[in-house]
Amino acid sequence: MKHLGVLTSGGDAPGMNAAIRAVVRTAVHDGIRVSGVYRGFQGLLDDDIVELGPRSVANILQRGGTVLRTARCELFYQPEGRTAAAATLARHDIDGLVVIGGDGSFRGAQALEAEHGIKTVGIPATIDNDINGTDVSIGFSTALDIALEAVDRLRDTAASHDRHFLVEVMGRHAGHIALHVGVAGGAEVIVVPEVPQTADDVVDLLLKAEERGKTSSIVVVAEGAYEGGARRLQEAVEAATGFELRTVILGHTQRGGSPCSRDRVLASRLGFHGVRTLAAGKSGVMVGTKWRQVVKIPLAELADHPKPIDRELLEIAQVLAV
Ligand code: F6P
Repeated sequence: MKHLGVLTSGGDAPGMNAAIRAVVRTAVHDGIRVSGVYRGFQGLLDDDIVELGPRSVANILQRGGTVLRTARCELFYQPEGRTAAAATLARHDIDGLVVIGGDGSFRGAQALEAEHGIKTVGIPATIDNDINGTDVSIGFSTALDIALEAVDRLRDTAASHDRHFLVEVMGRHAGHIALHVGVAGGAEVIVVPEVPQTADDVVDLLLKAEERGKTSSIVVVAEGAYEGGARRLQEAVEAATGFELRTVILGHTQRGGSPCSRDRVLASRLGFHGVRTLAAGKSGVMVGTKWRQVVKIPLAELADHPKPIDRELLEIAQVLAV
């Protein structure tokens, strides 16, 4: 391996910059040239590639977002897009690619390797934490902290006003954020896409909580868990209970901001091992962690198998909301 490319793809996640820094500095340390590809796979189509050195990634460890920018590139998911991307890599003499992103990005990386022999390694980075094969993805821990701070603040007002809050967190298809924030924030109800619940189910839980003497509550709702989102759920619950509800949608605030220490350490480890994996001649894998050990999982095993939620944690949340 003489020259690596590194790119970030899909939704940005806090800690992506720490991963870029780790890739660049490990590569340079090991005598490998490294170039940054801008705006994910789009940069391969646009030939938007710049060689990086240790100083190019100075002072980015603590910054959210991604200095390489990111994009969702439709053309790359067509065979002709990947042919053009492979030609760009060949022009730059880039013989390996580190892809920092989620499972959609990994599918693209895998296809590039299968069709054009470009050696690729994936580094899991998405706040949704829905990538199988790794305990946690870069950005998840920071997103939890941001959402949890909001829940804690809302709890003060909920308790003071005897009011019920619906807090919509990110997760179009995955409930990991909602579940963990719900447990950490002591939510009365958690609504996730993996366990469909009707408005009546939520009403039932809130009425039971009221019977137990609760005068306020927090309902954490993943954005994709209820048709029409938390606002629609609010209308249905209000109509059935007469409760005074408020909905707060946290949205993209969960994706920005400085990464927490856990994400910075994780990104540093995975970036380092991503480079070392390619340098050792291994590719077509995601570098993640299991039980705190670094693991390498074939990208082919990850496609279309999102990480299931921890159902026991959901049960624990219900027991502790008594
Ligand atoms: O990063 C993943 C995610 O946060 C999903 O939970 C969410 O549905 C999606 O990104 C929204 O991203 P965008 O608004 O950038 O399309």
